[in-house]
Amino acid sequence: MSQALRPAHDQRFSDLIRSRTGIQLPVHRRQMIESRLRPRIAAVGATGFEGYLEQLFDHGLLDDELPLVIDLLTTNKTDFYRESAHFDVLVDKIVPETIRHATPHAPRLKIWSAASSEGAEAYTAAIVLSEAQRAGHRFSYAILGTDISHRMLERARRAIYTAEQLSPVPAELRARYTMAGRAPSHAGTARIVPELRDRVQFMHLNLMDSTYPVDRDVDVIFLRNVLIYFGPEDQAAVIARMAGHLRPGGYLMVGHSESMVVSHPQMKQHSPSVFRKT
Ligand SMILES: C[S@@+](CC[C@H](N)C(=O)[O-])C[C@H]1O[C@@H](n2cnc3c(N)ncnc32)[C@H](O)[C@@H]1O
Repeated sequence: MSQALRPAHDQRFSDLIRSRTGIQLPVHRRQMIESRLRPRIAAVGATGFEGYLEQLFDHGLLDDELPLVIDLLTTNKTDFYRESAHFDVLVDKIVPETIRHATPHAPRLKIWSAASSEGAEAYTAAIVLSEAQRAGHRFSYAILGTDISHRMLERARRAIYTAEQLSPVPAELRARYTMAGRAPSHAGTARIVPELRDRVQFMHLNLMDSTYPVDRDVDVIFLRNVLIYFGPEDQAAVIARMAGHLRPGGYLMVGHSESMVVSHPQMKQHSPSVFRKT
């Protein structure tokens, strides 16, 4: 590819990723982008990043490569009990409040982990809600995890984690809610127990889509550590769509560094990084 064409391809690539995923790829992150795409560059036999872009745009590889590119460009860092104050709000405030306002039937809490990565957030919610049930609260719950990354969704459904990943889970709860891997190939790993896995479903969903195939009476949405990758317009559009999926009085939890981003007439701040729909 000639030097003159390169910036045009670069820009086209950035624009494409932003429009398809919301993720912004500023120029100073170019090295990170290239290193993440290295497996694909090698797989298609391209000579370097420029050669790869040329194959995408000039040789018809784009449609086949795009899902793989998106998988590699997403940042999937997550942890069990990440920003654990949110799970305290869930159990100490939202569960009792939902039960108080319920009809004679035990209520069913609907939780949505809207950028679920490999599932730690959804399963942490399942663990703390199951513990609330054990403590005597009468309710049931269903959790939906969604993400744009097929690779992360596969891992989330498998629900097998290393001892290190599970280390934030208190030992007693690890013993109750995970099963150690027996096969030599699974040494040092543990799987979330079926009773919890049955309560958690995972589905592919792109937050940039204009509508989401999700219920519109969700009690709690976790939308954490994903807005930071989007530009202001996309952030506002996603929050507006999320507001449409919460029941009145439902809660939106964002990452602690993302509170400033939530500005919507129906969303009132409840506590740091927790918002409530009016
Ligand atoms: C840093 S992880 C956050 C995981 C979890 N919410 C947490 O706080 O630990 C961000 C996740 O957002 C997902 N993501 C990025 N853009 C997305 C989009 N447009 N639609 C859905 N998920 C997206 C990524 O694939 C990634 O798994």
